[in-house]
Amino acid sequence: MVARCQKCHRQEFADWQSGAHAATYSRIFLDRKKNAEQKLQDDCLRCHGMHFEGGIRDLVTPLDTTGPWRLVKPELANLPAIPCLACHEMHTHGAPLARPDVPAATPGPKQELYRPSLGLFDRREQLHFAVRALPLPEMRDGDRAVKISPDPRQALCYQCHAPRSGNQVSSGDDRTPMGVHEGLSCLACHLKHGQQTRASCATCHPRLSNCGRDVETMDTTFKDTHSAHNVHFVKCADCHPRGVPAKRLARR
Ligand code: HEC
Ligand code: HEC
Ligand code: HEC
Ligand code: HEC
Ligand code: HEC
Ligand code: HEC
Ligand code: HEC
Repeated sequence: MVARCQKCHRQEFADWQSGAHAATYSRIFLDRKKNAEQKLQDDCLRCHGMHFEGGIRDLVTPLDTTGPWRLVKPELANLPAIPCLACHEMHTHGAPLARPDVPAATPGPKQELYRPSLGLFDRREQLHFAVRALPLPEMRDGDRAVKISPDPRQALCYQCHAPRSGNQVSSGDDRTPMGVHEGLSCLACHLKHGQQTRASCATCHPRLSNCGRDVETMDTTFKDTHSAHNVHFVKCADCHPRGVPAKRLARR
């Protein structure tokens, strides 16, 4: 189906293809490190390969932690494991989309929060669950409840980028912003399809931050993915262990 969507939605396709969500079956199911750590199981297909018709035993062999692994159907190797229809339902419930009369004049509270097709394809039900039916998790940092943005679109991200049970921030695949970015939505920084973040810093940050520096040059995982300061979780105290310095007003 992706090739058909591509015909009309060229920009979305190009963005999706240049990002991590265009991962192929071979990238997800033949990863030597991952397969050696965790035994392949049917549940892997919940978050990638959800449209595969069959169980994991019909997809990869052998199902052990020693390998070498190969796809039962080699023709799947380069097919996308998170295609457009993983996140979009083509035939949504409700009235067909109408063209708004004067789009620019729609008052804020009447504007839509997200596109109607947005939802996760659930392979067990063989149905999409619309974003409005998906919960946002209650996240915790130790015992503290973490503030989380109410942006409903994130409920989709959390279905896959999920914490371990206990809902601790940064457990499992969780990236709930905490610290300096607590309360921001994933989509405040990540573009919808390619997930790039470059343009986002300047949409919120003045050229010089609290620190009197350009945040893009500061020591976070934005500048260098190996930085010890993960941009999702970094707190003032991580960089200022002896306390936040006083502002040098002269520079302003
Ligand atoms: C023949 C051209 C065409 C094809 C093929 C096509 N679309 Fe669309 N699509 C459109 C048009 C036109 C709109 C309306 C644009 C608008 O309302 O902003 C649209 C709107 C959308 C929207 C936004 C509205 C919503 O319901 O969320 C999404 C998402 C979407 N298409 C996804 C897809 C996907 C996924 C595929 C492949 C399965 C696909 N489209 C195939 C032309 C097409
Ligand atoms: C709850 C949804 C979910 C399930 C279940 C799941 N994954 Fe993933 N998988 C993800 C997410 C989200 C990422 C991206 C990880 C990140 O960057 O934090 C990912 C990334 C990957 C990657 C890319 C390399 C890497 O490690 O980041 C591989 C390979 C992979 N998964 C294989 C598997 C296999 C095999 C299973 C079953 C044992 C599995 N996954 C189960 C959501 C899931
Ligand atoms: C990982 C989930 C995911 C995948 C996969 C995905 N999309 Fe989207 N898509 C989104 C999100 C999130 C939005 C933003 C919805 C909003 O803001 O209302 C969106 C919005 C759209 C829109 C509406 C226009 C817009 O930019 O808001 C179109 C059209 C669309 N996607 C097409 C596609 C096509 C075509 C593919 C496959 C090439 C695809 N999407 C794959 C998550 C996804
Ligand atoms: C259907 C499952 C699924 C959904 C829904 C989903 N993701 Fe992902 N995402 C993945 C997997 C799997 C990977 C890892 C792919 C790989 O490494 O090959 C990933 C990778 C990423 C990456 C890593 C990019 C990189 O360069 O390493 C970002 C950022 C991301 N996702 C953000 C989001 C956001 C934001 C949303 C919600 C709009 C979202 N994802 C929704 C499964 C999902
Ligand atoms: C304040 C901005 C910001 C917010 C909010 C944000 N991210 Fe990120 N994210 C980044 C930056 C910057 C990177 C690293 C550089 C890059 O990949 O662009 C990144 C990287 C990632 C990666 C790749 C692995 C990593 O940790 O470097 C994943 C997966 C991811 N983000 C998921 C999410 C999800 C899911 C959410 C919402 C729960 C989210 N992000 C919210 C800025 C943000
Ligand atoms: C949606 C708005 C938003 C976006 C987008 C955003 N930030 Fe921030 N950022 C903030 C806020 C708010 C603070 C905290 C300011 C405070 O507490 O005074 C902050 C603080 C920081 C800090 C701590 C230093 C300081 O001066 O406060 C760094 C470093 C930082 N951001 C880096 C980034 C980078 C890199 C990006 C781009 C990937 C980014 N931010 C994108 C809103 C944002
Ligand atoms: C990624 C690391 C990092 C984070 C996170 C960070 N800072 Fe900074 N900050 C620095 C660096 C580096 C300097 C410059 C060296 C110094 O003065 O210690 C600095 C300097 C400062 C200064 C002195 C500015 C001046 O005029 O000289 C203040 C005030 C400050 N930070 C406040 C904050 C606050 C408030 C936060 C949290 C919202 C924060 N910082 C988060 C790295 C960081």
